[in-house]
Amino acid sequence: MKEGKRPDPNAVHPIAGYEKEIYVKPTVRNPNIIVGEFTYIADSEFESHVTHHYEWNGDKLMIGKFCQIAAGVEFVMNGANHQINAVSTFPFYTLEGWNMNPPAPSDLPLKGDTIIGNDVWIGQNAVILPGVHIGDGAIIGANSVVGSNVSPYTIVAGNPAKMLRKRFDDELIDLLLRFKWWDKSIEEIDGLIPILTCSDLEKVREEIKARV
Ligand SMILES: CC(C)(COP(=O)(O)OP(=O)(O)OC[C@H]1O[C@@H](n2cnc3c(N)ncnc32)[C@H](O)[C@@H]1OP(=O)(O)O)[C@@H](O)C(=O)NCCC(=O)NCCS
Repeated sequence: MKEGKRPDPNAVHPIAGYEKEIYVKPTVRNPNIIVGEFTYIADSEFESHVTHHYEWNGDKLMIGKFCQIAAGVEFVMNGANHQINAVSTFPFYTLEGWNMNPPAPSDLPLKGDTIIGNDVWIGQNAVILPGVHIGDGAIIGANSVVGSNVSPYTIVAGNPAKMLRKRFDDELIDLLLRFKWWDKSIEEIDGLIPILTCSDLEKVREEIKARV
């Protein structure tokens, strides 16, 4: 470990003296937001980045470990989706005085939980729409609006976010998905850093093959 310091998943600030970057997990209070260790956001708090997240919908935001979430990212949850199978989208039932009960769940365009994998990098001001699943190792370009699922180790960008390219060939992606470095101990991950950050992908392929 560098300078005798062990990375602490329960610490809020991964950089001493810098308030605008936090490990998310130790700060989350909402039981419907589940975040893995070492996922950080470039802000001093996280939950305001999760919008329209009402308890009565029961939808969950699940984010894996080691994700990198830039400033201005928004996770839009199902409460944002108004009824669209009727002639008006106006949400009378949410506003006082109007004579309407909440529509049946089957009349609302509920898209389910939002699920983000591990080691996902989400670029600045990206918007993740309700129910989207983003695979391990994916990259979301700055200012993207992500409305459909993103495969593991794929780069997407734009509005609507479209695939720019896969990051690696299918064999290396398969090896990485089996290797699951993010589930190893802090000590093991620390020792794997030269492999995880090496741009000689053939060397990386052989190193991981020897370990899965
Ligand atoms: C997506 C990203 C990682 C670049 O990936 P890349 O594979 O190197 O992509 P390139 O730069 O080669 O661009 C490929 C194409 O995608 C387009 N593109 C790249 N990023 C884009 C974005 N965010 N939105 C829309 N289009 C984008 C490029 O204009 C280019 O288009 P072209 O083929 O028509 O010329 C980068 O552009 C990005 O958005 N990074 C996020 C940075 C950030 O927000 N950091 C936050 C602090 S941690």
